[in-house]
Amino acid sequence: MARGQNVHTPEEIVRIRRAAAVTAQVRDMIAESIRPGMTTMDVDVRAGELIRASGGKSAFLNYHGYPGNICISVNDEVVHGIARPDRVIGPRDIVSIDVGVEFDGALGDTAVTVSMEAHPSPEICRLLEGTRAALKQGISAARCGRRVGDISRAVEMAARRSHLGIVREYVGHGCGIHLHEPPEVPNYSGWGGGPVLVPGMVLCIEPMLNLGTERIVVDRRDGWTVRTHDGAWSAHFEHMVLITDSEPEILTWQKTM
Ligand code: MF3
Ligand code: CO
Ligand code: CO
Repeated sequence: MARGQNVHTPEEIVRIRRAAAVTAQVRDMIAESIRPGMTTMDVDVRAGELIRASGGKSAFLNYHGYPGNICISVNDEVVHGIARPDRVIGPRDIVSIDVGVEFDGALGDTAVTVSMEAHPSPEICRLLEGTRAALKQGISAARCGRRVGDISRAVEMAARRSHLGIVREYVGHGCGIHLHEPPEVPNYSGWGGGPVLVPGMVLCIEPMLNLGTERIVVDRRDGWTVRTHDGAWSAHFEHMVLITDSEPEILTWQKTM
């Protein structure tokens, strides 16, 4: 592909913008509806209804055999948690939801971690605020003329400032017409600079940060759920960002409320 990257056409970007906005709206409606006492399956069912009502379809359901409408990962679960009817959300839990919607042939992908406690402990605040800050710093580096590796380094430096473990096995990615497009966007540097950013590229930047070790394990029974090796809690925030000739445009920013 030209310049080795997925540079989207203006016509594609119109549709990607719309798909991302729909996905962000679903993300926020789900996030605001989660209450202790609900099961993760309750959340997934509601997500399925919201996605259908939006006129789109889940981009995750059946993706490489994934069985849920969304990913819902609680506490020590990092990403790819599958909804369960027997997993009741507790009053102190943190819940990551990752939502992907296909709409008019384009894709949105965005994630947020919410605390069930209105005033979580200082440790949980460090985890949530630190991961949010790492995403923000990554987005700030997403400017044309710079490289993917500049985003990675910005995320890594912010994660280190908050003393959070950086998950290495899973990374951000190009997105827009397919869920996962090149390039990969790691949350750490040291692998080379990667491609130069040009207007029309759409990147999912998604730090997955842990209060403890960076080591993770994948559930051997379901083959999907990623957990921290030491059981410490983990957060995940993800935005889809369009590279422009000036400021990065956050396509999954919630504009309607
Ligand atoms: N949403 C994930 C990402 O941010 C991918 C989930 S794929 C699934 O890249 F199959 F687990 F849903
Ligand atoms: Co995602
Ligand atoms: Co993603």
